[in-house]
Amino acid sequence: MHKTKAYSAASATSPLVSTTITRRDPTDNDVQIEILFCGICHSDLHQVRNEWSGFMPTVYPCIPGHEIVGLVTKVGSAVKKFKPRDLAAVGCMVDSDGTCPECKAGLEQFCPNATYTYNLPDKHLGGVTYGGYSGSIVVDQRFVLRVPANLHLAGAAPLLCAGITTYSPMHHWGVTKGKKVGVVGIGGLGHMAVKFADALGAHVVVFTTSPSKKDDAIRLGADEVVISKNADEMAKHAGSFDFILDAVAAEHDMNAYLNLLRRDGNIVMVGAPEKALPIAAFNLIMGRRSLSGSPIGGIAETQEMLDFCGKHNITADVEVIPIQKVNEAYERLLKSDVKYRFSIDMASLRC
Ligand SMILES: NC(=O)c1ccc[n+]([C@@H]2O[C@H](COP(=O)([O-])OP(=O)(O)OC[C@H]3O[C@@H](n4cnc5c(N)ncnc54)[C@H](OP(=O)(O)O)[C@@H]3O)[C@@H](O)[C@H]2O)c1
Ligand SMILES: [Zn+2]
Ligand SMILES: [Zn+2]
Repeated sequence: MHKTKAYSAASATSPLVSTTITRRDPTDNDVQIEILFCGICHSDLHQVRNEWSGFMPTVYPCIPGHEIVGLVTKVGSAVKKFKPRDLAAVGCMVDSDGTCPECKAGLEQFCPNATYTYNLPDKHLGGVTYGGYSGSIVVDQRFVLRVPANLHLAGAAPLLCAGITTYSPMHHWGVTKGKKVGVVGIGGLGHMAVKFADALGAHVVVFTTSPSKKDDAIRLGADEVVISKNADEMAKHAGSFDFILDAVAAEHDMNAYLNLLRRDGNIVMVGAPEKALPIAAFNLIMGRRSLSGSPIGGIAETQEMLDFCGKHNITADVEVIPIQKVNEAYERLLKSDVKYRFSIDMASLRC
């Protein structure tokens, strides 16, 4: 076993502070990774503050972080895919049973026995898993991804959650050229959704509460931008969308977006606000519309997404910060004040 520095929260109201944790020695199937960058997902903030207590209560101390890129430092004897000094990445999962129908279908995100990268029982060391706000991590090779060499690493880290969470539903619901696609909320997930929808050839309309993001939305690949607080601008798009991806982290009016779907259109929730959102039945009934949800993506699909990003040179727009600024970054995330993902430079942990 080895010790590594990390940042942890002691309770829902505590700031993240420096600590030291223990990682296991690599087993035959494990890859040990020195973490270079870790993105800050809004899910980290929800979980550190126990905002999902009804669904997934946070166990403290909590060490978040599931957008991890780094360098392989050691591999177990059965690991063939990676060798020391290779680039490697880890997303939201570090294990699953590998035997259930979901795992056999390559959909590990639906495995009833999946282990998330933090806050779930650690089968090796007891306690719960600790995430990527740390110097190193040891992960079963099945859950370690390859990073295309042309991608800049700080911007590649957020692909491991923000990237796959937006790529997967677009593939599942067939976003292609000729489809009209809406993206609601231009944060970490939303800005990746715009890049993917644009790369897939769709007509992309961004819905934002932040007029200051209008120019950026066009630069990211949007064809049109709607300030969602403006009812007249919203009304112009009534009944016209094939697909809308909702990436909002807080309470908002879903009905306003259901009304923008055409017949048989679908809105997918990837945002996970703390509180339930009311839905008016007739907004679904009229037009046979669908409301759905989607969690991250499977491991094979995550690799496919990374390869797609390598081919199209897609990374997240990031503001690189030292780990010492993580609490300030959380406050800024709550004000939608990041363009568009914080990526922690883990070299700062070693200072
Ligand atoms: N389904 C999954 O597997 C999955 C994976 C990762 C994250 N998530 C969830 O997805 C959500 C977004 O994550 P993120 O990391 O992208 O967060 P983020 O960077 O904070 O972005 C959220 C965006 O939502 C908009 N927004 C914020 N408050 C709002 C409000 N009160 N009303 C309307 N819009 C508001 C803002 O966009 P504008 O300024 O453009 O309005 C903001 O930039 C979080 O709830 C997160 O937990 C889910
Ligand atoms: Zn995430
Ligand atoms: Zn399984």
